[in-house]
Amino acid sequence: MDNRATFNSRIGAVLAAAGSAVGLGNIWRFPCETGAHGGAAFILLYIGFIITVAVPVLICEMALGRRSRTNCYATFKRLSNSREVSVSKPLALLFYLTGAMCVLAGFVLFSYYSVVAGWTLGYTATAGVGGMMEMTVEETGRAFAEFSSDPVMPVVWLVAFVIITAGITVMGVQKGIERGSKIMMPVLFILLLVLAVCSLSLPNASKGLEFLFCPDFSKITTDVALSAMGQAFFTLSVGIGCLMTYASYFSNEENIVKDAFNIAAIDTMVAIVAGIIIFPAAMSVGINPDAGPSLVFITLPNVFNQAFGATPWLCYVVTLLFYLLLTMAALTSSISMLEITTAFVSERFGVRRRNAVAGIAIVTCVAGFACSMSFGEWSGVTVFGMGLFDLFDFFVAKFAMPIGGIFMCLLMRKFGEKEVTRMLTNDGRIDLGCFPKVFSFLVSWVIPVLILVIFVNELL
Ligand code: PHE
Ligand code: NA
Repeated sequence: MDNRATFNSRIGAVLAAAGSAVGLGNIWRFPCETGAHGGAAFILLYIGFIITVAVPVLICEMALGRRSRTNCYATFKRLSNSREVSVSKPLALLFYLTGAMCVLAGFVLFSYYSVVAGWTLGYTATAGVGGMMEMTVEETGRAFAEFSSDPVMPVVWLVAFVIITAGITVMGVQKGIERGSKIMMPVLFILLLVLAVCSLSLPNASKGLEFLFCPDFSKITTDVALSAMGQAFFTLSVGIGCLMTYASYFSNEENIVKDAFNIAAIDTMVAIVAGIIIFPAAMSVGINPDAGPSLVFITLPNVFNQAFGATPWLCYVVTLLFYLLLTMAALTSSISMLEITTAFVSERFGVRRRNAVAGIAIVTCVAGFACSMSFGEWSGVTVFGMGLFDLFDFFVAKFAMPIGGIFMCLLMRKFGEKEVTRMLTNDGRIDLGCFPKVFSFLVSWVIPVLILVIFVNELL
């Protein structure tokens, strides 16, 4: 406890948290969900959920983590037993279960996330040897279908990605997580902007913008609502103890409320810019925006080929940089996922960080292998009508995160308005006006009920 790690600087802490938030969720899952659920109307709902649900839950999560200064399972356990709160036996059990579910979800998430991250790594290598130049839409489409359903290559890249993640995580909070984020995040922002300009200059770009910004409200159903809420949770890394774990390394001077809004703003901007890159590009080369997980891997190579076909070296550089950065975005997120389970295993069982990371990485590769196979030979194996990959994603984004969010609110509520105010204002050192009051009310009643209603509605 005493010499537990902390982040070195404010900017380091915020960038690490933003690094966790900004990832494949923005550049791959967001366009994919938006495409599948009708475009602009989905985006409006999603932004609504970010502001009214995900950010408040994020604040709870960080406040709880910083207070307990331990892994997410122990946070639920310790805080629900602490002297400031009184929790009945059955509710205490539910808090324990939530803590355990967070650890499990962190593991499940890391496994399937690494599959897609492995693809990005593989594409980086292909782009690096110039293997993606001068391909037509059909060719990139076929290449992706062949690659992702192959039993060997995606798994090799998956394992490589897990090893890189583990390598950074092993280096620890300051030298690994913080330093990695500080280098990778700024580069990512610059490249996103460059790519957005490229995409907007393509013919027919306006059709993509229309899809992105002109809502058709008839498309909203309960399924769309749950998906929008799931995406809001997913993209901010909220509800499974990830930022709870990071916040346990925050200093006592960190302004959690301000950080939460900053993280949400950065993350939302990156998602919208990713949409501006991908949809105009997809429309321009005639690919349907609901193409699913393959969107980023099929449309973008074409965008680059069309936009820069005349200057091959530029095309080469841009394509390579894009996949490199996608991989980096995935990395800053995957280290945060691995940190959930690493903190838990090393603190709960008293094993060394290095051994915890190695053990988790091995199990992750096995689970990731099964996920990867669900795109190929095992595509027929379904549970609740979903392949393994989709099932994992469903469990994390549409089950564990909303449920985790509800219990984080409930635990916060147990502390009462006065204590909550102290947590958010760092014992009164920050002036937040009436925010803590409003916040207490929202997380005590409105938000848990809202999450529950949407959740139950969809499952019925
Ligand atoms: N927020 C990350 C993304 O958008 C995914 C993530 C979820 C990371 C939960 C950590 C925990 O890609
Ligand atoms: Na995100």
